[in-house]
Amino acid sequence: MKVYWIWLVLVGSAVGAGPSSLIGNVHGRTTVSLDGAWHAIVDPYENGVGSGIFRDEKPKSKSDRVEYSFDLSPVLNVPGDWNTQREALLFYEGPVWYRREFSYHKRPGTRVFAYFGAANYRTTVYLNGEKQGEHEGGFTPFDFEVTSTLREGGNFLVVEVNNARRAESVPALRFDWWNYGGITRDVELVEVPATFIQDYSIQLKKGSTHELDGWVRFNGPVSRHEVTIQIPEAGVEYKTVTDESGYAAFAFDASVLACGKRPARECPAPLKLWSPDDPKLYQVVVSGESDHVKDEIGFRTIEVQGGKILLNGKAIFLRGISMHEEAPFREGRAFSPEDAQTLLGWVKELGCNFVRFAHYPHNENEVRLADRMGLMVWSEIPVYWDVDWTNPATLANAQAQLRDMIARDHNRAAVILWSISNETPVKPERLAFLKQLAQDARDMDSTRLITSAMNHVDSTSADVRTLSDPLGEVLDVLGLNEYLGWYWGRPEDADKMQWKSNWNKPLIVSEFGGGAPAGRHGDADERWTEEYQDSVFQHQLAMIEKMANLAGITPWVLMDFRSPTRLLPGVQDYHNRKGVISNRGERKIAFYTLQKFYRKMAESQRQ
Ligand code: GCU
Repeated sequence: MKVYWIWLVLVGSAVGAGPSSLIGNVHGRTTVSLDGAWHAIVDPYENGVGSGIFRDEKPKSKSDRVEYSFDLSPVLNVPGDWNTQREALLFYEGPVWYRREFSYHKRPGTRVFAYFGAANYRTTVYLNGEKQGEHEGGFTPFDFEVTSTLREGGNFLVVEVNNARRAESVPALRFDWWNYGGITRDVELVEVPATFIQDYSIQLKKGSTHELDGWVRFNGPVSRHEVTIQIPEAGVEYKTVTDESGYAAFAFDASVLACGKRPARECPAPLKLWSPDDPKLYQVVVSGESDHVKDEIGFRTIEVQGGKILLNGKAIFLRGISMHEEAPFREGRAFSPEDAQTLLGWVKELGCNFVRFAHYPHNENEVRLADRMGLMVWSEIPVYWDVDWTNPATLANAQAQLRDMIARDHNRAAVILWSISNETPVKPERLAFLKQLAQDARDMDSTRLITSAMNHVDSTSADVRTLSDPLGEVLDVLGLNEYLGWYWGRPEDADKMQWKSNWNKPLIVSEFGGGAPAGRHGDADERWTEEYQDSVFQHQLAMIEKMANLAGITPWVLMDFRSPTRLLPGVQDYHNRKGVISNRGERKIAFYTLQKFYRKMAESQRQ
C-alpha cells in the first residue's frame, strides 16, 4: 500500500494545475462563432503531422508536390461527430484533420482565446501553421490564448482530433456507448480585456438560506482589483478587493445587505431558493475595473443527513432517469439547445425532478436547461469499468476531467452530485485512485455531494444483497447499479429481494432496467419484448419502495442509444435498447409505468 501512497502525493498536485479553459463562463462574452462546415481530411495512418498538414500548404507551382488539400476535401459540420455525418466514418476511430479559414479584425487591448466546448478525444490545435496546444478528454471545455498568433484579416485554424481508444485513456478500451469522434461542441473565438474575470463562484453557505460565500479570480497584468458582486433583483451589492494575485474570497449576508437599516422583521428573505418546483434563477453581475460578467444563478443548499438527501434543509426523493448525450431522431452526439429541449422535455414528461448525465459531462446546453427547468443533476466523469489504475498519467487525466467538469458547472444550482466513476472493479489500486478523486472533488467544491455508481454487492443470503464496495466509505451518496431481472434472476425475484448497505448513507439506485426494441410485443417472460422490460420495471419499482435509505432512482435509460457492444441483429443492431423511449421517440410500455409511479409519488409528496 505504501508504494501507491507516495506516488499519489506526486500526482495529487496535478489538481493544482488550472482548468483547461481559462474562460470560465463563455456566456455573455463577446465571441466569434467558428461553427459551420469545416474542410476535413481523414488520416487513418497518422500521416498528417509528418506531412505538415497543419500548415495547409498549397502547391506553389505545377511541379510542386503537396499530397493533401483541405480545399479539395469534403466538409464536416462543427459541432458534430463525424460518425453520423458520413456512412464511411460510422465505425472510424483515428485522426481527422479539420481546417477553418476566417477573417478577423483585431481590437487593441483585447486578448483572444480559441474556445472548444469539447472534442473527442485527443485534440491538437494549430493557428496559421503554429501549434497552440493539445488537450486530452472528450467531454469538457478547453481553450488556448491566440492573441499573439492571430492576424489582422485572413487566418486559418487547423485542428487534429483523434478518437482512437487507448488502455491508459479515460475512458479506456471498453465502454457501452458509441465512440463518437470529432469537434462535438461549439468552437468560438472569445475576446476579453487584457485583465479579465477568469472565473467566480457564488453560492449559499452550507445550511444557510441567506449567507453567501464564494470567490472571484482575475487573469491579467493588473494585480489588485476592486470587485463588485451584484444581485440586482434581490437588492444585493457587495464590494471587496482582490489580493496581489487577483483573487478574492468573500462571504456576506444577503439579507443584511438587502435590508440595509430597516428592522429585520420588515425585510422579506432576499433570496428565493432554487428548487424543482420553483427553479428561481437570479441575474448575478460580477464586475471589476476592466471587465464584468453576467450569469443566471440559482441559490439552494444540498446536504445529507443519515440516509436522507436534504434540498434547502428538507428531505427530497430524487425521481430520476439516466441518459446519454445522444441526439434524438438523428442520433450522433447531442449538442444543440434543441437536442437538450427534446431530451429534457422527455425527462420532465416522465415526472422526474432529477437526471443522471451518464457517463461523462454532458454539454452546457443541457446543464443550463436543467437549471431553468428545475431538474437536479448527477454529473459524472468517464472513469468507467476498468482503467489503468496504476498509471500516473491516467490519474492526472481523470483529475483534469474532474477539475474541468467542476470548473464549468460549479455555478449551476441544478448540479447536486459529482460522480467520480461507474461500475469499477474492487481492488486496492482502484480504491486509492478513486479516493484521490473524491478528495480532489471535495477540495474544489465543498458545497456538493460526492457519489459513484457501484455494482459490487455481497450475496448475504438467497434474498439479501448488501452493497459492500469499500468505495462507499469515501462517498456522501451511494449509487447502486443492479440488473436483477435482466443480467441475473427473473423480474419477479425482486419481490423477495432485500437490499442493505454497509453505511448509513443515502442510496440512489443509479441503474436498473431491461432491453426491448419499441413495438416488439409478447409475453411478460419473453425476452426483448416491451412486456418483459415493463415487467422488470413493475417488480423493481415495488422492490425499491421497500429499500432502506433510498433517496432516489435513475433507471437505465431514457432513450435507446448506439453502442458497439450490442450485436444482436434485428433487436439491437448496435443499439442498447434499454431506453423507455426509442431513438425515434416511441414511448415503450415501461415509460408509462415509470411515469405513473412518479406521478403517484409526486402527489403523495405534495400532500
Ligand atoms: C451498465 C453500465 C451502462 C450500460 C448498462 C447496460 O451498468 O453502467 O453503461 O449501458 O449497464 O448494460 O445496459
